[in-house]
Amino acid sequence: MIIETINLTKKYDKLVALDNLQLRLEEGECFGYIGPNGAGKTTTIRILATLLRPTWGEARVCGNVVGYESRKIRPLIGYVPDFFGAYEDMVVQEYLEFFAAAYNITGKKRDQIVGDVLELTDLTYKRDALVDSLSRGMKQRLSIARVLLHDPKVLLLDEPASGLDPRARIEIRELLKELHRMGKTIIISSHILPELADLCSSIGIIERGKLLFQGSVTEAVRRARVGTVVHVETPDDSEKARQVLANLNAVESVSLRNGAVIVNLREEVNDFSFIARSLLDNNLRIREIKQEEVNLETAFMRLTKGIVQ
Ligand SMILES: Nc1ncnc2c1ncn2[C@@H]1O[C@H](COP(=O)(O)OP(=O)(O)O)[C@@H](O)[C@H]1O
Ligand SMILES: [Mg+2]
Repeated sequence: MIIETINLTKKYDKLVALDNLQLRLEEGECFGYIGPNGAGKTTTIRILATLLRPTWGEARVCGNVVGYESRKIRPLIGYVPDFFGAYEDMVVQEYLEFFAAAYNITGKKRDQIVGDVLELTDLTYKRDALVDSLSRGMKQRLSIARVLLHDPKVLLLDEPASGLDPRARIEIRELLKELHRMGKTIIISSHILPELADLCSSIGIIERGKLLFQGSVTEAVRRARVGTVVHVETPDDSEKARQVLANLNAVESVSLRNGAVIVNLREEVNDFSFIARSLLDNNLRIREIKQEEVNLETAFMRLTKGIVQ
């Protein structure tokens, strides 16, 4: 277990920001930490980064306890906060050399390592550019480059893609995939699920300081039932339509909502032309038939609801 929290609790005065959190991460996992604003993501990450102490409970990184063995933890982690610090009057290469020096990386070794992380984060062509002149996406990659200098085992990334344009998001995602392939353990937080779905090996969902789910992405999606949903309206008897459709093999469940028949198809079914055929065969006319937009965002909402109840 590379990261483990035991009843991790953090209070800010009376506000319970983290409530008995039990997180467990194996080495090499890419863990997506998902929750709405104010859920407690930053608080968790800052505790793991040894910048905050728990009010109660324990957080361990590679077996070391935050607050007691923080000095052993710091070389093992790379923390990228959700804002960019102020060293912006330097050029990119100097910026990285400055942080390398802070980790006692000097001389030839430093030149080698700075060159390597620039290459990895695709910033070699910007080595002489002022940090200030970089785009937001490049600054974000530079922040990641900075925490790679001391080759940490664990990367803690707090909403690294927020505020980036779609292209910069994809670049960050590709970089994180590469780091995952290199064997790093990664925690990445986001308030948007779709961003993480194809990147992470496991996810956790947090809401108001409580962990609602921890498991694989497949399991999360399965629980969220992201099968196709079709809305059907008939000028004839909706209840009869409901019964007809409920008996079909490809249909998972059917309900009525505001006079419309809502058909949840089984997960592997995409083609819903059989619905029209079956209704017409039963002398039910069709006023409208359309697919409901189900994106991962909605799935995430369903998932959190499904687990709370
Ligand atoms: N320094 C602080 N003092 C008081 N309350 C805080 C502080 N930091 C965070 N909070 C509160 O703790 C809760 C969790 O915040 P945070 O961990 O930043 O959530 P997230 O990163 O998921 O948006 C929120 O209700 C927030 O307002
Ligand atoms: Mg936050």
